[in-house]
Amino acid sequence: MAVRGRPGMAAWRQAATRAGAARAVAARAIGGGVAVARRGRGAAMRAAAGGGEEWGPGTRVLHPARGGKVEDPYASVSPPLYQTATFDQPTATTFGEFDYTRSGNPTRRMLEEQMAALDGAARGFAFVSGMAAITAVARLVGSGEGIVTGNDIYGGTSRLLAQVLGRAGVEVQNVDMTDLAAVEGACGAGNVKLVIVESPTNPRMEISDIRRICAIAHRAGAVVCVDNSIMALFQNPLDLGADINMVSATKFVGGHSDVTAGILTVRDAELGDRLYFHQNSEGTGLGPFDCWLCLRGLKTMALRMERQAENAQAIAEHLSTHPLVTKVNFPGLPGHPGHALHSEQARSGGSIISFETGDLAVSKRVVEKTALHKVTVSFGSVGSSISLPCYMSHASIPAEVRAARGLPDDLVRISVGIEDVKDLIADLDTALG
Ligand SMILES: Cc1ncc(COP(=O)(O)O)c(C=O)c1O
Repeated sequence: MAVRGRPGMAAWRQAATRAGAARAVAARAIGGGVAVARRGRGAAMRAAAGGGEEWGPGTRVLHPARGGKVEDPYASVSPPLYQTATFDQPTATTFGEFDYTRSGNPTRRMLEEQMAALDGAARGFAFVSGMAAITAVARLVGSGEGIVTGNDIYGGTSRLLAQVLGRAGVEVQNVDMTDLAAVEGACGAGNVKLVIVESPTNPRMEISDIRRICAIAHRAGAVVCVDNSIMALFQNPLDLGADINMVSATKFVGGHSDVTAGILTVRDAELGDRLYFHQNSEGTGLGPFDCWLCLRGLKTMALRMERQAENAQAIAEHLSTHPLVTKVNFPGLPGHPGHALHSEQARSGGSIISFETGDLAVSKRVVEKTALHKVTVSFGSVGSSISLPCYMSHASIPAEVRAARGLPDDLVRISVGIEDVKDLIADLDTALG
């Protein structure tokens, strides 16, 4: 096949074409059709990478699925950034592997494949935000059909489900996900197509039985998506039976508060095709530079998360003994009602803690008086942060709904960073007064 373009590009193209041949695009209609490539290469990639299946997470985040090799004739160690919107095509009637970044980009694909490999998934998808990722999942549900989710969930998800999907005729049921009978009852409605679970929940850190919820949902014919943003590397919902693992990569993947992104991974190729259709059709794929930031963040993700979790355990234990703290929600504490279940599902308590003081004025003072903890709505960054969820991340949930769901105004949420733990404890102690 004649290759158009500058002569120097021919070798590059051939190399890229050779590398791409293994995953040749299955079908691509000229004129804006949908790429229906089915990759499903996770296992093969890990095998090629030298048995990545057995590697621990600290190794796997550093050594991408293809053993560090990317489709780059120069074999750069840092992933190449394809900061381009379009790709020159071989001829007017044949497509190369990439044509337009909304539909696909090599840097995005590196991130998506690495995230899929980490979860043992067939495919991964990177979105412009966690909310864009959840929205793509919600597109699986049509008017007249139903979604079951928790009554303690991230405020943005609650707003999307209640105010966007609700208006589009989707029926949303919020139930206590720690109560399996309630989940079973809700799934019995007959029209439920999707169950969205957070475990731990944001912000009360409640634990639900992901395996059993998956079994209930599957019996009802529903797909299960676990919002795993709080646990990330510490828990793999796909191993627990979920169909879709979602993380806000704004949190632990990026890890430095400098990127917003969302990731979905799936084992089922057909489900992957459906999600890809929405990512491409709605233009919600993550831009190349943000993918590059996530790829860089991934390298230290395991290390950061371990240190953050270690700090959080010490802080949670300390807060539990503080006279001004009336309740600490942290699944790493043996006294947490979901501790045993969480320990079966995840390998760490993580680094998000919430606590009550029983007095909004005290909680507000703590948040505002800390010096090392930034007052921010997000979590999962290297730097510690603190917030009042009812006034920040969950403010979009109407006050009466928050009250009905038992979300107390005085709840403080901390995201523990990688600072020296003694300094963080001293900072909280000073703020608590
Ligand atoms: C549990 C959870 N899920 C989803 C999201 C949404 O992610 P993003 O902010 O990247 O859109 C957030 C954001 O805080 C979150 O806390």
